[in-house]
Amino acid sequence: MTANVLAVHGGTPLCGEVSVRGAKNFVPKAMVATLLTAAPCRISGVPDIRDVAVVRELLELHGVRVGDQAPGELLLEPRDVELANVADIDAHAGSSRVPILLVGPLLHRIGQAFVPDLGGCRIGDRPIDFHLFALRSFGAEVDKRPDGLHITAPQGLTGTTFELPYPSVGATEQVLLTAVLARGRTELRNAAIEPEIIDLICVLQKMGAVIGVDTDRVIRIDGVDRLGGFTHRALPDRIEAGSWAAAALATGGDIYVRGARQVDMMTFLNVFRRLGGAFEVDPTPGHEGIRFYHPGGDLRPVALETDVHPGLMTDWQQPLVVALTQAAGLSIVHETVYENRFGFTEALVAMGATIQVYQECLGGSPCRFGARNFLHSAAISGPAKLHAAELTIPDLRGGFSYVIAALAAEGSSTLHGVSLIDRGYEGFLDKLAALGARFDVLG
Ligand code: EPU
Repeated sequence: MTANVLAVHGGTPLCGEVSVRGAKNFVPKAMVATLLTAAPCRISGVPDIRDVAVVRELLELHGVRVGDQAPGELLLEPRDVELANVADIDAHAGSSRVPILLVGPLLHRIGQAFVPDLGGCRIGDRPIDFHLFALRSFGAEVDKRPDGLHITAPQGLTGTTFELPYPSVGATEQVLLTAVLARGRTELRNAAIEPEIIDLICVLQKMGAVIGVDTDRVIRIDGVDRLGGFTHRALPDRIEAGSWAAAALATGGDIYVRGARQVDMMTFLNVFRRLGGAFEVDPTPGHEGIRFYHPGGDLRPVALETDVHPGLMTDWQQPLVVALTQAAGLSIVHETVYENRFGFTEALVAMGATIQVYQECLGGSPCRFGARNFLHSAAISGPAKLHAAELTIPDLRGGFSYVIAALAAEGSSTLHGVSLIDRGYEGFLDKLAALGARFDVLG
Protein backbone atom coordinates (compact mmCIF):
# COMPACT_ATOMS: atom_id res chain seq x y z
CA MET A 1 0.00 0.00 0.00
CA THR A 2 1.49 3.33 -0.96
CA ALA A 3 -1.55 5.53 -0.36
CA ASN A 4 -1.07 7.97 2.46
CA VAL A 5 -4.18 10.16 2.39
CA LEU A 6 -7.68 8.74 2.15
CA ALA A 7 -11.17 10.14 1.92
CA VAL A 8 -13.29 7.60 3.78
CA HIS A 9 -17.04 7.69 3.17
CA GLY A 10 -18.97 6.40 6.18
CA GLY A 11 -22.26 4.63 6.56
CA THR A 12 -21.65 1.30 4.80
CA PRO A 13 -21.49 -1.87 6.91
CA LEU A 14 -18.36 -3.92 6.17
CA CYS A 15 -19.45 -7.28 4.79
CA GLY A 16 -17.55 -10.09 3.09
CA GLU A 17 -14.42 -12.13 3.60
CA VAL A 18 -10.80 -11.33 4.43
CA SER A 19 -7.84 -13.64 5.08
CA VAL A 20 -5.23 -13.29 7.76
CA ARG A 21 -1.75 -14.76 7.39
CA GLY A 22 1.02 -15.28 9.90
CA ALA A 23 1.22 -13.05 12.97
CA LYS A 24 3.12 -9.76 12.71
CA ASN A 25 4.34 -10.32 16.25
CA PHE A 26 5.68 -13.78 15.47
CA VAL A 27 7.07 -13.96 11.91
CA PRO A 28 9.90 -11.40 12.36
CA LYS A 29 11.07 -13.29 15.47
CA ALA A 30 11.11 -16.63 13.62
CA MET A 31 13.17 -14.89 10.93
CA VAL A 32 15.64 -13.72 13.60
CA ALA A 33 15.92 -17.31 14.91
CA THR A 34 17.54 -18.34 11.61
CA LEU A 35 20.69 -16.51 12.75
CA LEU A 36 21.15 -19.33 15.28
CA THR A 37 21.93 -21.91 12.59
CA ALA A 38 23.88 -22.30 9.36
CA ALA A 39 21.20 -24.56 7.86
CA PRO A 40 18.37 -23.42 5.56
CA CYS A 41 15.06 -22.46 7.19
CA ARG A 42 11.60 -22.18 5.67
CA ILE A 43 8.74 -20.06 7.01
CA SER A 44 5.28 -20.02 5.45
CA GLY A 45 2.27 -17.83 6.13
CA VAL A 46 4.56 -14.78 5.95
CA PRO A 47 2.51 -11.57 5.60
CA ASP A 48 3.56 -8.81 3.21
CA ILE A 49 3.96 -6.07 5.83
CA ARG A 50 6.64 -3.51 6.56
CA ASP A 51 7.82 -5.13 9.83
CA VAL A 52 8.72 -8.26 7.85
CA ALA A 53 10.48 -6.21 5.17
CA VAL A 54 12.60 -4.40 7.78
CA VAL A 55 13.77 -7.65 9.39
CA ARG A 56 14.43 -9.15 5.99
CA GLU A 57 16.69 -6.21 5.13
CA LEU A 58 18.47 -6.44 8.48
CA LEU A 59 19.13 -10.16 8.00
CA GLU A 60 20.38 -9.56 4.45
CA LEU A 61 22.77 -6.91 5.81
CA HIS A 62 24.17 -9.65 8.05
CA GLY A 63 24.75 -12.03 5.16
CA VAL A 64 21.56 -14.12 5.35
CA ARG A 65 20.20 -14.95 1.89
CA VAL A 66 16.43 -14.52 1.84
CA GLY A 67 14.40 -15.80 -1.09
CA ASP A 68 10.68 -15.90 -1.88
CA GLN A 69 9.73 -19.50 -2.58
CA ALA A 70 6.05 -18.82 -3.21
CA PRO A 71 3.64 -16.10 -2.06
CA GLY A 72 4.02 -15.95 1.73
CA GLU A 73 6.85 -18.46 1.84
CA LEU A 74 10.44 -17.52 2.64
CA LEU A 75 13.61 -19.56 2.36
CA LEU A 76 16.34 -18.15 4.61
CA GLU A 77 19.92 -19.31 4.17
CA PRO A 78 22.07 -18.15 7.06
CA ARG A 79 25.27 -19.97 6.08
CA ASP A 80 27.57 -16.96 5.88
CA VAL A 81 26.50 -14.62 8.67
CA GLU A 82 28.81 -11.63 8.89
CA LEU A 83 29.20 -8.31 10.59
CA ALA A 84 27.01 -5.58 9.06
CA ASN A 85 28.03 -2.01 8.54
CA VAL A 86 26.80 0.14 11.46
CA ALA A 87 25.65 2.91 9.11
CA ASP A 88 23.57 0.41 7.10
CA ILE A 89 21.91 -0.93 10.27
CA ASP A 90 21.38 2.62 11.47
CA ALA A 91 19.38 3.37 8.33
CA HIS A 92 16.69 1.20 9.97
CA ALA A 93 16.70 3.21 13.21
CA GLY A 94 13.20 3.95 14.36
CA SER A 95 11.50 1.57 11.94
CA SER A 96 10.81 -1.44 14.17
CA ARG A 97 11.33 -2.88 17.65
CA VAL A 98 12.73 -6.16 16.37
CA PRO A 99 16.45 -5.15 15.95
CA ILE A 100 17.02 -5.58 19.70
CA LEU A 101 16.19 -9.29 19.27
CA LEU A 102 19.09 -9.88 16.88
CA VAL A 103 21.57 -9.31 19.70
CA GLY A 104 21.73 -12.77 21.36
CA PRO A 105 21.90 -14.71 18.07
CA LEU A 106 24.55 -12.33 16.65
CA LEU A 107 26.65 -12.59 19.81
CA HIS A 108 26.61 -16.37 19.44
CA ARG A 109 27.33 -16.22 15.76
CA ILE A 110 29.83 -13.40 15.29
CA GLY A 111 30.59 -12.13 18.79
CA GLN A 112 29.16 -8.64 18.43
CA ALA A 113 25.96 -6.72 17.67
CA PHE A 114 24.81 -3.15 17.13
CA VAL A 115 21.35 -1.83 18.01
CA PRO A 116 20.17 1.49 16.56
CA ASP A 117 17.40 3.61 18.05
CA LEU A 118 14.29 1.43 18.17
CA GLY A 119 10.98 2.17 16.50
CA GLY A 120 7.48 0.82 16.97
CA CYS A 121 4.33 2.61 18.00
CA ARG A 122 4.50 5.54 20.40
CA ILE A 123 2.07 4.13 22.97
CA GLY A 124 4.28 4.51 26.03
CA ASP A 125 7.94 4.84 26.92
CA ARG A 126 8.78 1.32 25.73
CA PRO A 127 12.15 1.01 27.48
CA ILE A 128 14.57 -1.89 26.85
CA ASP A 129 15.93 -2.19 30.38
CA PHE A 130 14.70 -5.82 30.75
CA HIS A 131 16.48 -6.75 27.51
CA LEU A 132 19.76 -5.20 28.61
CA PHE A 133 19.52 -6.73 32.07
CA ALA A 134 18.95 -10.15 30.50
CA LEU A 135 21.84 -9.78 28.04
CA ARG A 136 24.20 -8.62 30.78
CA SER A 137 23.28 -11.55 33.00
CA PHE A 138 24.22 -13.92 30.17
CA GLY A 139 27.65 -12.20 30.16
CA ALA A 140 27.19 -9.59 27.42
CA GLU A 141 28.88 -6.19 27.68
CA VAL A 142 26.83 -3.21 26.55
CA ASP A 143 28.53 -0.04 25.41
CA LYS A 144 26.07 2.87 25.01
CA ARG A 145 27.36 5.30 22.39
CA PRO A 146 25.64 8.27 20.73
CA ASP A 147 24.82 6.21 17.62
CA GLY A 148 23.30 3.29 19.54
CA LEU A 149 24.31 0.23 21.55
CA HIS A 150 27.46 -1.73 20.74
CA ILE A 151 27.28 -5.14 22.41
CA THR A 152 29.95 -7.82 22.76
CA ALA A 153 30.46 -11.04 24.73
CA PRO A 154 34.21 -11.49 25.27
CA GLN A 155 33.73 -14.57 27.47
CA GLY A 156 30.82 -16.06 25.49
CA LEU A 157 27.31 -16.38 26.92
CA THR A 158 26.40 -18.49 29.94
CA GLY A 159 22.99 -19.62 31.18
CA THR A 160 21.47 -17.55 33.97
CA THR A 161 18.52 -17.38 36.35
CA PHE A 162 16.35 -14.35 36.80
CA GLU A 163 12.81 -13.04 37.11
CA LEU A 164 11.29 -10.41 34.84
CA PRO A 165 9.68 -7.49 36.73
CA TYR A 166 6.79 -7.80 34.22
CA PRO A 167 6.05 -10.62 31.74
CA SER A 168 7.40 -8.72 28.73
CA VAL A 169 6.92 -10.38 25.34
CA GLY A 170 10.11 -8.93 23.84
CA ALA A 171 12.31 -9.65 26.87
CA THR A 172 11.07 -13.25 27.01
CA GLU A 173 11.93 -13.63 23.32
CA GLN A 174 15.33 -12.09 24.00
CA VAL A 175 16.02 -14.69 26.69
CA LEU A 176 14.82 -17.59 24.52
CA LEU A 177 16.91 -16.53 21.51
CA THR A 178 19.98 -16.08 23.70
CA ALA A 179 19.64 -19.05 26.09
CA VAL A 180 19.25 -21.79 23.47
CA LEU A 181 22.96 -21.65 22.58
CA ALA A 182 24.29 -20.35 25.94
CA ARG A 183 26.42 -22.64 28.13
CA GLY A 184 24.30 -24.50 30.70
CA ARG A 185 20.78 -23.91 31.96
CA THR A 186 18.71 -20.73 31.99
CA GLU A 187 15.66 -20.29 34.18
CA LEU A 188 13.35 -17.39 33.43
CA ARG A 189 10.59 -16.57 35.92
CA ASN A 190 7.58 -14.37 35.25
CA ALA A 191 7.96 -15.05 31.53
CA ALA A 192 5.42 -14.03 28.88
CA ILE A 193 3.44 -16.99 27.51
CA GLU A 194 1.61 -15.39 24.56
CA PRO A 195 0.74 -17.82 21.72
CA GLU A 196 3.36 -16.02 19.57
CA ILE A 197 5.99 -16.96 22.19
CA ILE A 198 4.86 -20.58 22.27
CA ASP A 199 5.13 -20.66 18.46
CA LEU A 200 8.68 -19.28 18.71
CA ILE A 201 9.47 -22.05 21.21
CA CYS A 202 8.10 -24.56 18.68
CA VAL A 203 10.48 -23.15 16.04
CA LEU A 204 13.44 -23.36 18.42
CA GLN A 205 12.49 -26.90 19.42
CA LYS A 206 12.39 -27.90 15.74
CA MET A 207 15.92 -26.49 15.49
CA GLY A 208 17.10 -28.74 18.32
CA ALA A 209 16.65 -26.55 21.41
CA VAL A 210 15.59 -27.94 24.79
CA ILE A 211 12.96 -25.65 26.32
CA GLY A 212 10.43 -26.44 29.05
CA VAL A 213 7.45 -24.22 29.80
CA ASP A 214 6.44 -24.91 33.39
CA THR A 215 3.45 -23.74 35.37
CA ASP A 216 3.45 -20.22 36.81
CA ARG A 217 5.33 -18.55 33.96
CA VAL A 218 8.64 -20.39 34.45
CA ILE A 219 10.63 -21.26 31.32
CA ARG A 220 13.73 -23.47 31.55
CA ILE A 221 16.18 -23.71 28.68
CA ASP A 222 19.11 -26.14 28.48
CA GLY A 223 21.71 -24.68 26.16
CA VAL A 224 22.89 -26.93 23.29
CA ASP A 225 26.05 -26.73 21.16
CA ARG A 226 24.41 -26.29 17.80
CA LEU A 227 21.04 -25.82 16.16
CA GLY A 228 19.72 -26.95 12.77
CA GLY A 229 17.25 -25.52 10.27
CA PHE A 230 13.45 -25.65 10.41
CA THR A 231 10.29 -25.59 8.35
CA HIS A 232 7.40 -23.84 10.03
CA ARG A 233 3.98 -22.38 9.25
CA ALA A 234 3.38 -19.23 11.30
CA LEU A 235 0.41 -19.03 13.65
CA PRO A 236 -2.31 -16.71 12.31
CA ASP A 237 -2.44 -13.05 13.24
CA ARG A 238 -5.00 -12.93 16.06
CA ILE A 239 -4.65 -9.14 16.39
CA GLU A 240 -5.62 -8.60 12.77
CA ALA A 241 -8.50 -11.08 13.15
CA GLY A 242 -9.77 -9.20 16.23
CA SER A 243 -9.42 -5.87 14.42
CA TRP A 244 -11.71 -7.01 11.58
CA ALA A 245 -14.12 -8.46 14.14
CA ALA A 246 -14.33 -5.06 15.86
CA ALA A 247 -14.80 -3.43 12.44
CA ALA A 248 -17.78 -5.71 11.75
CA LEU A 249 -19.35 -4.70 15.04
CA ALA A 250 -18.64 -0.96 14.75
CA THR A 251 -20.10 -0.72 11.24
CA GLY A 252 -23.01 -3.14 11.78
CA GLY A 253 -21.43 -5.59 9.33
CA ASP A 254 -20.60 -9.26 8.85
CA ILE A 255 -17.02 -10.39 8.18
CA TYR A 256 -15.68 -13.90 7.72
CA VAL A 257 -12.01 -13.90 8.74
CA ARG A 258 -10.35 -16.81 6.99
CA GLY A 259 -7.40 -18.09 9.01
CA ALA A 260 -8.68 -16.83 12.41
CA ARG A 261 -8.22 -19.51 15.05
CA GLN A 262 -10.53 -19.91 18.04
CA VAL A 263 -7.90 -21.27 20.40
CA ASP A 264 -5.82 -18.07 20.15
CA MET A 265 -8.83 -15.80 20.56
CA MET A 266 -10.77 -17.28 23.51
CA THR A 267 -10.61 -14.13 25.62
CA PHE A 268 -11.47 -11.90 22.69
CA LEU A 269 -14.46 -14.07 21.74
CA ASN A 270 -15.86 -13.83 25.26
CA VAL A 271 -15.64 -10.05 25.19
CA PHE A 272 -17.10 -9.93 21.68
CA ARG A 273 -20.09 -11.98 22.83
CA ARG A 274 -20.62 -9.97 26.02
CA LEU A 275 -20.65 -6.84 23.89
CA GLY A 276 -23.49 -8.24 21.82
CA GLY A 277 -21.50 -9.43 18.81
CA ALA A 278 -22.12 -12.85 17.30
CA PHE A 279 -19.58 -15.27 15.84
CA GLU A 280 -19.44 -18.70 14.25
CA VAL A 281 -16.34 -20.83 14.14
CA ASP A 282 -16.09 -22.45 10.69
CA PRO A 283 -17.17 -26.11 11.10
CA THR A 284 -15.83 -27.18 7.67
CA PRO A 285 -13.10 -29.81 8.15
CA GLY A 286 -9.73 -28.43 7.03
CA HIS A 287 -10.99 -24.83 7.08
CA GLU A 288 -9.89 -22.39 9.71
CA GLY A 289 -11.90 -19.21 10.03
CA ILE A 290 -14.42 -17.30 12.14
CA ARG A 291 -17.45 -15.31 11.00
CA PHE A 292 -17.93 -12.18 13.11
CA TYR A 293 -21.16 -10.24 12.77
CA HIS A 294 -23.52 -7.71 14.29
CA PRO A 295 -26.74 -9.66 14.95
CA GLY A 296 -28.92 -6.51 15.11
CA GLY A 297 -30.30 -4.74 18.17
CA ASP A 298 -28.24 -2.77 20.68
CA LEU A 299 -24.64 -3.53 21.55
CA ARG A 300 -24.13 -3.87 25.30
CA PRO A 301 -21.63 -1.89 27.42
CA VAL A 302 -18.82 -3.87 29.09
CA ALA A 303 -16.03 -3.38 31.61
CA LEU A 304 -12.69 -4.59 30.26
CA GLU A 305 -9.12 -4.82 31.37
CA THR A 306 -6.21 -5.49 29.03
CA ASP A 307 -3.55 -7.83 30.32
CA VAL A 308 -0.79 -10.22 29.35
CA HIS A 309 -1.88 -13.61 28.02
CA PRO A 310 -4.29 -15.23 28.75
CA GLY A 311 -5.86 -11.82 29.42
CA LEU A 312 -7.35 -9.52 26.79
CA MET A 313 -4.56 -8.35 24.45
CA THR A 314 -3.74 -4.66 24.58
CA ASP A 315 -3.57 -4.65 20.77
CA TRP A 316 -7.30 -5.44 20.57
CA GLN A 317 -8.16 -2.52 22.83
CA GLN A 318 -8.12 0.28 20.27
CA PRO A 319 -10.40 -1.34 17.65
CA LEU A 320 -12.73 -2.54 20.44
CA VAL A 321 -13.07 0.99 21.83
CA VAL A 322 -14.53 2.09 18.48
CA ALA A 323 -17.14 -0.69 18.76
CA LEU A 324 -17.84 0.39 22.37
CA THR A 325 -18.76 3.91 21.19
CA GLN A 326 -21.78 2.17 19.61
CA ALA A 327 -22.84 0.22 22.74
CA ALA A 328 -25.89 1.46 24.64
CA GLY A 329 -24.55 2.54 28.05
CA LEU A 330 -21.31 3.11 29.92
CA SER A 331 -18.26 0.95 29.19
CA ILE A 332 -15.02 0.97 31.15
CA VAL A 333 -11.61 0.02 29.74
CA HIS A 334 -8.56 -0.33 31.98
CA GLU A 335 -5.30 -0.52 29.97
CA THR A 336 -2.66 -2.28 32.08
CA VAL A 337 0.04 -3.11 29.49
CA TYR A 338 0.94 0.33 28.07
CA GLU A 339 0.73 3.54 30.06
CA ASN A 340 -0.20 5.73 27.09
CA ARG A 341 -2.52 3.86 24.76
CA PHE A 342 -5.57 6.12 24.88
CA GLY A 343 -4.19 9.11 22.93
CA PHE A 344 -6.25 7.97 19.95
CA THR A 345 -9.53 8.59 21.83
CA GLU A 346 -9.18 12.37 21.35
CA ALA A 347 -9.94 11.91 17.66
CA LEU A 348 -12.97 9.74 18.46
CA VAL A 349 -14.23 12.50 20.75
CA ALA A 350 -13.74 15.00 17.90
CA MET A 351 -15.96 12.69 15.84
CA GLY A 352 -18.74 12.83 18.42
CA ALA A 353 -17.88 9.97 20.80
CA THR A 354 -18.22 10.50 24.56
CA ILE A 355 -15.00 9.21 26.10
CA GLN A 356 -13.33 10.38 29.29
CA VAL A 357 -9.85 9.16 30.24
CA TYR A 358 -8.65 8.81 33.84
CA GLN A 359 -5.39 8.23 35.64
CA GLU A 360 -7.09 5.97 38.18
CA CYS A 361 -7.29 2.19 37.70
CA LEU A 362 -10.98 1.91 36.83
CA GLY A 363 -12.97 -1.28 36.94
CA GLY A 364 -10.20 -3.72 37.85
CA SER A 365 -7.33 -4.46 40.14
CA PRO A 366 -4.71 -1.71 40.63
CA CYS A 367 -1.95 -1.86 38.00
CA ARG A 368 1.60 -0.47 37.60
CA PHE A 369 0.30 2.83 36.24
CA GLY A 370 -2.30 3.81 38.86
CA ALA A 371 -0.09 5.93 41.09
CA ARG A 372 1.89 7.47 38.23
CA ASN A 373 -0.43 10.01 36.59
CA PHE A 374 -0.89 8.05 33.38
CA LEU A 375 -4.25 8.40 31.66
CA HIS A 376 -4.72 4.67 31.32
CA SER A 377 -8.44 4.10 32.03
CA ALA A 378 -11.32 5.17 29.82
CA ALA A 379 -15.09 5.51 30.29
CA ILE A 380 -17.02 5.34 27.03
CA SER A 381 -20.64 6.35 26.91
CA GLY A 382 -22.73 5.26 23.94
CA PRO A 383 -24.28 4.88 21.55
CA ALA A 384 -22.68 7.89 19.85
CA LYS A 385 -23.59 9.22 16.44
CA LEU A 386 -20.15 9.62 14.89
CA HIS A 387 -19.58 12.32 12.30
CA ALA A 388 -16.80 12.86 9.77
CA ALA A 389 -13.50 14.54 10.68
CA GLU A 390 -10.01 15.24 9.37
CA LEU A 391 -7.55 13.01 11.24
CA THR A 392 -3.89 12.05 11.29
CA ILE A 393 -3.07 8.40 12.03
CA PRO A 394 -1.15 8.23 15.35
CA ASP A 395 0.04 4.59 15.46
CA LEU A 396 -0.69 1.18 13.97
CA ARG A 397 -3.72 0.00 15.97
CA GLY A 398 -4.97 3.55 16.54
CA GLY A 399 -4.77 4.01 12.77
CA PHE A 400 -6.94 0.97 12.08
CA SER A 401 -9.38 2.30 14.68
CA TYR A 402 -9.62 5.70 12.98
CA VAL A 403 -10.44 4.03 9.69
CA ILE A 404 -13.24 1.96 11.18
CA ALA A 405 -14.53 4.97 13.10
CA ALA A 406 -14.61 6.92 9.81
CA LEU A 407 -16.48 4.02 8.18
CA ALA A 408 -19.00 3.98 11.03
CA ALA A 409 -19.44 7.78 10.87
CA GLU A 410 -21.82 9.89 8.85
CA GLY A 411 -20.12 11.78 6.00
CA SER A 412 -16.64 11.75 4.46
CA SER A 413 -13.53 11.89 6.64
CA THR A 414 -10.00 12.71 5.50
CA LEU A 415 -7.29 10.49 6.98
CA HIS A 416 -3.60 11.38 6.76
CA GLY A 417 -0.67 9.03 7.37
CA VAL A 418 -2.59 5.90 6.37
CA SER A 419 0.58 4.17 5.12
CA LEU A 420 1.55 3.57 8.76
CA ILE A 421 -1.11 0.85 8.84
CA ASP A 422 0.88 -1.32 6.41
CA ARG A 423 3.41 -1.97 9.19
CA GLY A 424 1.00 -4.56 10.49
CA TYR A 425 -2.00 -5.10 8.17
CA GLU A 426 -1.30 -6.88 4.90
CA GLY A 427 -3.17 -5.59 1.83
CA PHE A 428 -5.18 -3.23 4.03
CA LEU A 429 -6.84 -1.15 1.31
CA ASP A 430 -7.58 -4.18 -0.87
CA LYS A 431 -9.25 -5.87 2.08
CA LEU A 432 -11.27 -2.75 2.89
CA ALA A 433 -12.41 -2.52 -0.73
CA ALA A 434 -13.34 -6.23 -0.76
CA LEU A 435 -15.53 -5.62 2.30
CA GLY A 436 -17.45 -2.88 0.52
CA ALA A 437 -15.80 0.11 2.22
CA ARG A 438 -16.15 3.30 0.20
CA PHE A 439 -13.00 5.43 0.04
CA ASP A 440 -10.87 7.45 -2.38
CA VAL A 441 -7.11 7.66 -2.39
CA LEU A 442 -6.20 11.36 -2.26
CA GLY A 443 -2.44 11.06 -2.09
N1 EPU B 1 8.79 -3.11 29.27
C1 EPU B 1 9.71 -2.52 30.09
N2 EPU B 1 11.05 -2.78 29.86
C2 EPU B 1 11.46 -3.60 28.84
C3 EPU B 1 10.51 -4.21 28.01
C4 EPU B 1 9.16 -3.94 28.24
O1 EPU B 1 9.36 -1.77 31.01
O2 EPU B 1 12.68 -3.78 28.70
C5 EPU B 1 7.35 -2.81 29.46
C6 EPU B 1 6.77 -2.02 28.28
O3 EPU B 1 7.04 -0.65 28.41
C7 EPU B 1 5.30 -2.34 28.37
C8 EPU B 1 5.30 -3.79 28.90
O4 EPU B 1 6.59 -4.01 29.47
O5 EPU B 1 4.67 -1.51 29.29
C9 EPU B 1 5.04 -4.84 27.86
O6 EPU B 1 5.94 -4.71 26.78
P1 EPU B 1 6.42 -5.98 25.93
O7 EPU B 1 7.90 -6.09 26.06
O8 EPU B 1 5.56 -7.14 26.28
O9 EPU B 1 6.07 -5.49 24.46
P2 EPU B 1 6.96 -5.62 23.16
O10 EPU B 1 7.64 -6.93 23.11
O11 EPU B 1 7.75 -4.38 22.95
C10 EPU B 1 5.13 -6.81 21.72
C11 EPU B 1 4.40 -6.47 20.46
C12 EPU B 1 3.39 -5.37 20.75
C13 EPU B 1 2.43 -5.87 21.82
C14 EPU B 1 3.21 -6.29 23.08
C15 EPU B 1 2.32 -6.89 24.15
C16 EPU B 1 6.06 -6.91 18.78
C17 EPU B 1 6.99 -6.39 17.73
N3 EPU B 1 5.34 -6.01 19.45
O12 EPU B 1 5.82 -5.61 22.07
O13 EPU B 1 2.67 -5.16 19.55
O14 EPU B 1 1.54 -4.83 22.17
O15 EPU B 1 4.22 -7.26 22.71
O16 EPU B 1 1.64 -8.00 23.67
O17 EPU B 1 5.96 -8.11 18.99
C18 EPU B 1 1.32 -4.00 18.05
O18 EPU B 1 1.33 -5.05 17.38
O19 EPU B 1 0.60 -3.00 17.78
C19 EPU B 1 2.19 -3.92 19.22
C20 EPU B 1 2.43 -2.79 19.85
